[in-house]
Amino acid sequence: MCGIVGIIANEPVAEKIVEALRRLEYRGYDSAGLATLEQGHLTRRRAAGKLKNLEEKLRQEPLHGTIGIGHTRWATHGRPTENNAHPHATKRVAVVHNGIIENFRELREELTAQGHVFVSETDTEVVAHLVDHELQSGKSPSEAVAAALPRLRGAFALAFLFEGAEGLLIGARLGAPLAVGYGTDAMYLGSDALALAPFTDRISYMEDGDWVVLDRNSAHFTNAKGQSVTRPHLRSQASAFLIDKGNHRHFMAKEIHEQPEVVGRTLAHYLDMSQGCVRLPFDLPFDPAQISRITITACGTAFFAGLIAKYWIERFARLPVEIDVASEFRYREAPMDPQGLMIVVSQSGETADTLAGLRYAKQNGQNILSVVNVTTSTMARESDVIAPTLAGPEIGVASTKAFTCQLTVLACLAVALGRARGTLSPEVEKTLVTELIALPGLMAEAMKREAAIESLAPALAKAKDVLYLGRGTSYPLALEGALKLKEISYIHAEGYAAGELKHGPIALIDEAMPVIVIAPFDHVFEKTVSNMQEVAARGGKLILIGDDNAERDSAVALQATIKMPTMAPTFSAIAYSIPVQLLAYHIAVFMGKDVDQPRNLAKSVTVE
Ligand code: AGP
Repeated sequence: MCGIVGIIANEPVAEKIVEALRRLEYRGYDSAGLATLEQGHLTRRRAAGKLKNLEEKLRQEPLHGTIGIGHTRWATHGRPTENNAHPHATKRVAVVHNGIIENFRELREELTAQGHVFVSETDTEVVAHLVDHELQSGKSPSEAVAAALPRLRGAFALAFLFEGAEGLLIGARLGAPLAVGYGTDAMYLGSDALALAPFTDRISYMEDGDWVVLDRNSAHFTNAKGQSVTRPHLRSQASAFLIDKGNHRHFMAKEIHEQPEVVGRTLAHYLDMSQGCVRLPFDLPFDPAQISRITITACGTAFFAGLIAKYWIERFARLPVEIDVASEFRYREAPMDPQGLMIVVSQSGETADTLAGLRYAKQNGQNILSVVNVTTSTMARESDVIAPTLAGPEIGVASTKAFTCQLTVLACLAVALGRARGTLSPEVEKTLVTELIALPGLMAEAMKREAAIESLAPALAKAKDVLYLGRGTSYPLALEGALKLKEISYIHAEGYAAGELKHGPIALIDEAMPVIVIAPFDHVFEKTVSNMQEVAARGGKLILIGDDNAERDSAVALQATIKMPTMAPTFSAIAYSIPVQLLAYHIAVFMGKDVDQPRNLAKSVTVE
């Protein structure tokens, strides 16, 4: 979850490096830095905090070199200080790094014993000294990198710049993404295509184990076996224009409001509206009738999307679905049915734990389907079939439109699997498709409650703890609501299955504990009412997210109701995401939090 960039050109590169870093800030923003060759000499500028601090430093002490590397950081080892900011350097080499060097301690001890002096707390600094050590033995920059890379364990994307070497940049990747960009008399390295979009749309993606030597007109790839290889030249779809906020105060607000449009766009990609059926935009490379079990793995918000999909797939396709967070799944050696289906869900397609889960499943003979927002991502490239979400670039660190588009894709997939397995009649499919088609309008209708939701923020902002309750698919949505609130307002929040409340958590209920109940008028609504009564009987402050029927039948004193339009309950989690997201957003804004880049977070967690 850091961003790296490198540029070799015939004009000063500092400004372009900063522009690329601005497009990589979503990957981490604790500190930033760059290094160029000034009359052949390695020269750095680094700053703690946001990128604007580095820009100020460059205004005071500009750099003019025509070759350089840059970095925006999400701290893994060492505090987010200037001294720990990348690039890390010795007299001979500078390096920027995304990932974690797991054996950095032993390498640091070895290098210290050889006389190397370390000045930072980071794992990355050992890479600079390791390559430096090889340079001191007389190796060329390429030879030195080739000798050093096999010593590194962990995940890394690296870019190197060498003292006096005006004509070459070196990049390497293992377990963290790195792309090569082809310009005119200029070449580029970047953590993703979005970073390079202002300069070029001609991209090659490096494979794990690759390293590459760039001059101003070409790239020479070497693979993990030391063989010289070529990598395909692709046309990137990444937007060349820096995504802007439109007339919204934050990217998160913009992306919440985009949901009716992008969910509609995703539906159009997966439905035959005229026939009233699902038409997947890809062929399934397996026979759904032969699948005995589905496994889903993901992280964070994407995991909650998978949890909701479990209800739909089991109900419509009559297939058992096992689901686990990827950080657990990747290590528990789960037995897997031969020819089973693994579904991974990921906005970025680069989350390290989810990627590891994908690879475990692949090694165990699973068909791999990835629901991703970035179709050129590592997960997409390693899947048997890609199910794209058409959310467009999601800049806000807290996922919103990607989540509802993931749900949309998963809902369509569940219906398609049911039809293919004969567990869903065409008539039922038609009804479900009609309900799906209604969603964008219902989401737009729910958006009209924004002012009412915003009016609840001042009172809720005082809460120390908040409880979200739901049943059925509203239970994973309760988990997501709690995550949204805690990750942008820093208020502790928990999501719970409403039926679980009486098995302990009800001890938490008092006047100070707001309880937000997500209760569409579905087959378990009465059960949820009972839980609401249990809360009310203990003085809990109830906020209902529900429709007219729910408010009428809830039969308890409510602190507030966030009124939802009446709708079929099957896919209500997609529409009910709107108030859940808006509530978290307005509470965080009222509290003056950095909504788009919350503390300690990063948009794409590409390390363990
Ligand atoms: C979402 O609000 C969070 N920022 C986070 O949980 C995110 O969903 C998770 O890191 C997974 O990311 P991915 O979808 O890119 O794999």
